[in-house]
Amino acid sequence: MSYKIGIIGCGNVGMSYAYSLVNQVIDVNEIVLIDINKEKTVGKALDLSHSLAFSRSYINNISYGDYESISDADILCITAGMPQGTKKVSRMEDIEGCNKIIEEIMENVNKANFRGIILVASNPLDIMTLKIAKMYNNNFSLVIGTGTLLDTSRLRYEIANKLGFPLKSISGYIFGEHGDSQFVAWSSVKVNKTYDIKDYLTEKEMLDIEENVKKDGFEVAKLQGYTCYGVATALSKITRCIINNELEEIPVSTYDPEKDVYISSLSVIGNTGVIKNKLYNLDSKEQELYDISAKIIKDGADSIKI
Ligand SMILES: NC(=O)c1ccc[n+]([C@@H]2O[C@H](COP(=O)([O-])OP(=O)(O)OC[C@H]3O[C@@H](n4cnc5c(N)ncnc54)[C@H](O)[C@@H]3O)[C@@H](O)[C@H]2O)c1
Repeated sequence: MSYKIGIIGCGNVGMSYAYSLVNQVIDVNEIVLIDINKEKTVGKALDLSHSLAFSRSYINNISYGDYESISDADILCITAGMPQGTKKVSRMEDIEGCNKIIEEIMENVNKANFRGIILVASNPLDIMTLKIAKMYNNNFSLVIGTGTLLDTSRLRYEIANKLGFPLKSISGYIFGEHGDSQFVAWSSVKVNKTYDIKDYLTEKEMLDIEENVKKDGFEVAKLQGYTCYGVATALSKITRCIINNELEEIPVSTYDPEKDVYISSLSVIGNTGVIKNKLYNLDSKEQELYDISAKIIKDGADSIKI
């Protein structure tokens, strides 16, 4: 089977994801770009099409489309949202604005009779992913948010940098909200999959790293105006998990029925969507942080009546 992917919201994040798809060997043959800014997006589709002759992908067709053209897509990636900008201090600032955008998009997605898997990057991530899943007939296994996959990548980068170790020698996860209440599950963080991180970092260093990771996105946005490559790579990774049925355990935002929220936990993603979640056994302190994070997401969702 060859996959058709629709991308809704073709700004920094959406186009970085599209570009990353063009640059990998993955079983995708078609990409459809949807955005309210038609002219610019037609140009982006054309620009990207001009890379196909020499790309390693199997993509044959990249076009601007309307919602009808995604009715037979297999994966829809929603990255429409409020512009990031240089001055934000919390993703929650976008809640009202993004809520309206997502509402309009999901009405169109449902009208188009789309039936596939939906990936979400729009912020505030966990709340928007919940909104999308609820508007998608509560098809929770078919809706996945990037969650703390990007934060986890930032964590490993920060630790490897601090210790001067190869990046791939660091494992471990961030869970909870893709936002201020996210937390490092320090019990999961290891060097060479074996050695406890507490043997390498002091408590103060661990706290500093955790704080830096929380601020990383805003620091990048302050300098560049937005972030895009990290989240695009996270979206690509989830896409590979789906298309190749990789069944790898990754920290992404999935539905927790006990809390009635989307929140990041260790999850398995395959070609039918979310196969399993909540796979990592948090210690009691981490569980407390998870509960606090879930409550913050729930309060946010309640505030816009999801
Ligand atoms: N999940 C993550 O880790 C992560 C990381 C970075 C950014 N983000 C989020 O991704 C989203 C996009 O960021 P960006 O920098 O690409 O923003 P951007 O402003 O560059 O792009 C957003 C695009 O959405 C389009 N859009 C707006 N309303 C629309 C609608 N109703 N229908 C279709 N398209 C619509 C805009 O025209 C624009 O092209 C934001 O919510 C941002 O906060 C998430």
